[in-house]
Amino acid sequence: MQDLAIYPGSFDPVTNGHADIVRRGLTVFDRILVAVLENPKKAPLFTTKERVAMIRNVFKGRKEVEVMSFSGLLVEFAKARGTNTVIRGLRAISDFEYEFQMALMNRQLAPHMETLFMMPSQEFSFLSSNLVKEVFMLGGSVRNLVPELVERKLREKSGNKAGFKSR
Ligand code: PNS
Repeated sequence: MQDLAIYPGSFDPVTNGHADIVRRGLTVFDRILVAVLENPKKAPLFTTKERVAMIRNVFKGRKEVEVMSFSGLLVEFAKARGTNTVIRGLRAISDFEYEFQMALMNRQLAPHMETLFMMPSQEFSFLSSNLVKEVFMLGGSVRNLVPELVERKLREKSGNKAGFKSR
């Protein structure tokens, strides 16, 4: 058993559902490394730096939670960080196919890589970063769905980014 697991994702932005998975992960592992994908193809709303900074802020003072960005293959990054355990949240059946493909591809690339799925609290089982952005953009409330800081950052973006309804 390893004491470190890697929790990769886009986190654009981090939601309370992600934070819930990190907390659950810490009941099984001593340390969680949140790995933020730097993916120039995806055109995220928040830059990699912003996404990393927001997650660090959410877990401020928790030295068992480390946050880093990565590019390239996840299995290579995990190996370089000294773990072969990946944690992913599984919200619903609809997540299953995508997660199944990724887990098996990672296993194909690195046979010792294991993916552990954790279910978020039921209150977050419908939550995704994309829905948060959409709801916010259309003027809906995202309170209780994202950390306060993230709500503030969304508001800041809406102030200076086309596509966001001004509020
Ligand atoms: O939050 P997301 O966008 O569902 O996370 C997807 C992520 C970052 C876990 C996945 O895209 C990933 O691991 N990308 C790194 C590239 C890689 O290793 N690809 C091959 C295995 S699927």
